[in-house]
Amino acid sequence: MSHPNAPAPIRIAPSLLAADFAHLADEVASVEAAGADWLHLDVMDGHFVPNLTFGPFVVAALKKVATVPLDVHLMITDPWRYADAFLDAGADLLTFHVEVAKNGDVPALLGRVRARGARVGMSLQPDTPAEALAPYVRELDLVLVMSVFAGFGGQKFMPSVLPKVAALRRLGFRGEVSMDGGIGGTTIADAARAGTNVFVAGTAVFGAPDRHARIAELRQLASAAAAGAATA
Ligand code: DX5
Ligand code: ZN
Repeated sequence: MSHPNAPAPIRIAPSLLAADFAHLADEVASVEAAGADWLHLDVMDGHFVPNLTFGPFVVAALKKVATVPLDVHLMITDPWRYADAFLDAGADLLTFHVEVAKNGDVPALLGRVRARGARVGMSLQPDTPAEALAPYVRELDLVLVMSVFAGFGGQKFMPSVLPKVAALRRLGFRGEVSMDGGIGGTTIADAARAGTNVFVAGTAVFGAPDRHARIAELRQLASAAAAGAATA
């Protein structure tokens, strides 16, 4: 059993958004062999974000071939309507956006996901302050801090979001912090130093000529920065 104050583990979560969609099973096997800790799956509804990706059928198909946890990022307006479908499909962690909180009963949704045995997270767009999560921090397993505006891969990392991690801790959040968007060799250390422990990376992993080397490099950069931050 891990010590309650042990630092959260470094997790590298490749985002399938940057994968070859004609060969998804091969892409999953490739990043798992390369050392991925979680698979990050970006669900977009064409409404919360101006883009469409895939739904529960694809998540269920991926569940059949994946051996690592499925980290499902719902960029959708109505997670109340679709949460059960994604849990049925095999999501291990289900994250939805605080910007849709007005559309339903957030504590009820958090409770429903956990009652079904999955972990639950909420996400912040770059222009949403950490304080928006204040009512929920004690019920969350993870907070996903967006370091680009949700909707597309390959965007430039926004360092202005980094102070949100400390702000979440000040609010009493004790769970895992994930960062998503523009994470790669030049940005991951800053994210780790700020207190992030889960690193979502699309382009940086799938675009690398050697994915194993890239994941090892990202993990090394994150570990070194986190260790430096802990002793600073
Ligand atoms: C953006 C998605 C991200 C995206 C990250 O809306 O939530 O997960 O795949 O892609 P990169 O790592 O290329 O910025
Ligand atoms: Zn994402």
